[in-house]
Amino acid sequence: MRRRDAATTDAGRLDDFSYLEPGTVYLDAACQSLRPRPVIDALTEYYTEYNACGGRVKYAWGKRVDEEVAAARSAVLDLFSLSPRNHAVSFTLNTSYGLNLLLHQLPMNTYLRVVTSHIEHNSVFLPTMTAASRLGVERLVLDRDADGALRYEPAQLERAVVVVNVTSNVDGRQLTNLSQLVHDTHARGGIVILDAAQTAAHHHPLLRKTEADAICFSAHKMYGASLGVIVARHELLASLEVTFIGGGMVADVREDSFDLLPDDPAALLEPGLQAWGEIIALRRAIDWLSTVRPGGRSPAEHISGLADRLYDGLSGIPGLVLLNTVSAPVISLYSPKQDAHRLAVFLSHSGIMARSGYFCAHHYLKEQLGLPPLLRFSLGLHSTPADIDLALDTLTRLMKGLA
Ligand SMILES: Cc1ncc(COP(=O)(O)O)c(C=O)c1O
Repeated sequence: MRRRDAATTDAGRLDDFSYLEPGTVYLDAACQSLRPRPVIDALTEYYTEYNACGGRVKYAWGKRVDEEVAAARSAVLDLFSLSPRNHAVSFTLNTSYGLNLLLHQLPMNTYLRVVTSHIEHNSVFLPTMTAASRLGVERLVLDRDADGALRYEPAQLERAVVVVNVTSNVDGRQLTNLSQLVHDTHARGGIVILDAAQTAAHHHPLLRKTEADAICFSAHKMYGASLGVIVARHELLASLEVTFIGGGMVADVREDSFDLLPDDPAALLEPGLQAWGEIIALRRAIDWLSTVRPGGRSPAEHISGLADRLYDGLSGIPGLVLLNTVSAPVISLYSPKQDAHRLAVFLSHSGIMARSGYFCAHHYLKEQLGLPPLLRFSLGLHSTPADIDLALDTLTRLMKGLA
């Protein structure tokens, strides 16, 4: 695929986001990235040119959908250098739904415990509680080091279901001991399910050729439309006790029984009609991410340059306490004197959109660290140095004015 140096607007923004009004500073990409024009075009094309469902219909529109959906599944596997021989790609609503679908269909009497960490999004933290309860096993909540590594004793992984994020949505720390964790878990008969919601966009090389059993992420956090993605090993899919079930999953149905499709592991997690346009748009997002060269650099290099600028600037504003110890595309902070929600509202008066609260990491931020609500800035490929400078200037003025 040919890489292309991306054109920019006069304001230095990638042309693919030129629909943004001047003075609009969106710094909440960790929640949803803005969609580049090719992704929006792919959705419009689907809705206006071949709005059929996939996997069922014989007319031409449906055939085109089937080809596009197959290409989207392949693009996801290519992103992580995984093979369809070992893995299937299923689509769902979001990361939270993907994790729930897997955890709540795990076989009974197979695992001894569910293991997670303190620094998890509620979409991991909560279903690990309910899954442990359903399976009738203990749940272990472990610490993570400042560099993101999960701290464990190998014995804790005995027949464990390990569910952790690869990249934190609070401070961007990464699961630096991922390979060792997967190796140690497998050696003791366990499985590893990864929350890659903050990884898929800019850190996907971390998951290249991963041996983990499943990866869940959200297309809406990687420049795609709203969609969840589950990449799972065939063995894990075959072990599931399928209970979420519906059309598109069965070969035959009788009054009191049914036969699942024999050769379609991805379908095991896809009851009912899917979000065809969004699936198709995901491939465009992946293509876009693999070819776009903002400022002649890779998306990861570009984002990391912006993150350094933001981190350095925030570190220099008196009265702020940063949670990050190093720069990352996601930076959380608080002021012991100013309410974060109030700061977010004041920032929004200057067109700056940042998040305030606990970012669905209530246990870690509120219960464990005992912090007040925080302010979070997160960057995307639509962001520019000018956006960051405006946010920094405005926050500096606010902190002075409110002092
Ligand atoms: C690390 C992490 N995990 C999981 C999620 C949940 O993603 P979704 O809301 O798309 O299900 C998020 C969302 O912000 C996240 O940042």
